[in-house]
Amino acid sequence: MLSTRSLHAPARQCLRQLKTPHRFAPACQQARYLQTTPESEKIARFKGTKGSDGKYTVTLIEGDGIGPEISKSVKEIFAAAGAPIKWEPVDVTPTLKDGRTVIPDDAIASVTRNYVALKGPLATPIGKGHVSLNLTLRRTFNLFANVRPCKSIVGFKTPYDNVNTVLIRENTEGEYSGIEHVVVDGVVQSIKLITREASERVLRFAFQYAREVGRSKVRAVHKATIMKMSDGLFLSTARNVAKEYPDIEFDAELLDNTCLKMVTDPTPYNDKVLVMPNLYGDILSDMCAGLIGGLGLTPSGNIGDECSIFEAVHGSAPDIAGKALANPTALLLSSIMMLQHMGLNSYADRIQAAIFKVLAEGKTITGDLGGKAKTHEYANAVIKAL
Ligand SMILES: NC(=O)c1ccc[n+]([C@@H]2O[C@H](COP(=O)([O-])OP(=O)(O)OC[C@H]3O[C@@H](n4cnc5c(N)ncnc54)[C@H](O)[C@@H]3O)[C@@H](O)[C@H]2O)c1
Repeated sequence: MLSTRSLHAPARQCLRQLKTPHRFAPACQQARYLQTTPESEKIARFKGTKGSDGKYTVTLIEGDGIGPEISKSVKEIFAAAGAPIKWEPVDVTPTLKDGRTVIPDDAIASVTRNYVALKGPLATPIGKGHVSLNLTLRRTFNLFANVRPCKSIVGFKTPYDNVNTVLIRENTEGEYSGIEHVVVDGVVQSIKLITREASERVLRFAFQYAREVGRSKVRAVHKATIMKMSDGLFLSTARNVAKEYPDIEFDAELLDNTCLKMVTDPTPYNDKVLVMPNLYGDILSDMCAGLIGGLGLTPSGNIGDECSIFEAVHGSAPDIAGKALANPTALLLSSIMMLQHMGLNSYADRIQAAIFKVLAEGKTITGDLGGKAKTHEYANAVIKAL
């Protein structure tokens, strides 16, 4: 088995290696900050906010549906492991302001203050004029890269034993720009927006991430054969950015080829970081989740210029909410990515080892993995294994 450290490695590097200025305000503050602050303090600052009690305050968005149940498991396991984290719960129930979905000011202030947040799933209200709150959060904090690692869990049998993919999804534009309108009755148009600036930013992050986790290759996944201008820009930008990283091998692959090859044999992807526009990343990462046993096991990190929000890939699972059937592993593994991002690796390693031990034993696992354990029974087993 590969080192657990390489599963979710620190993603903070992007803050120190940016080479181009950004048009976004937080990035401008960041640039000023980077110029005036000694290197050691920069790293410490973006770890989160450490209080006089030695604990880091982290914003906690428990979320909807199964969110509160799985968040409870994370809190209990962190407390048992003595992780130096103080949770600051915030309510992100959206409101409409001037026709736009907005997040309450207190929640924005909390994430801005703490730099780091853990988020449970948020249900998207349908047909009430709200845009997805998840999208709103990503835009509000300019969380431009979504990192989604998928690694086989020893002892949990799936068609492939050694999946170890890392996918980075552009998180702010592409098909999810939210620019849609009716041309005439019965004809609608949705704009896929690709900019060189956002592409450069996520591509540069992908190369830095590859270095950080010790992967030797970056592969851009695209459909530039069909979307010659939009994906073409993403691809040409990737080729240019690749020149800045001569130590990392770069190539590109068509999305349909990637899907076919990955479900045929995922192992050739174990030495690569895949980077792609928004929609492709959303779909392909769920496919990778399927290869390791489903959404209940798949974590992610949304990385921004300043703030980062870690969350499970799955949604609020309204069908099982309130029944103690939810598997908290995906949120737990997201919280481990968070600890690693903050440089708290010893706690991350300890909690992760306990999770993998319980899953490998297979005695106290939740229904989605074929077991009978309730959410809290699984959490208690992890606590015992610490
Ligand atoms: N990042 C997010 O916050 C996020 C992501 C996806 C969907 N959503 C929202 O969640 C709501 C429900 O979406 P959906 O039903 O399409 O997807 P979902 O991920 O909530 O559920 C899909 C299936 O997977 C199961 N499942 C999901 N997480 C599980 C877990 N931890 N343990 C055991 N089983 C689990 C569910 O029971 C369901 O059968 C929607 O409002 C959607 O917009 C939010």
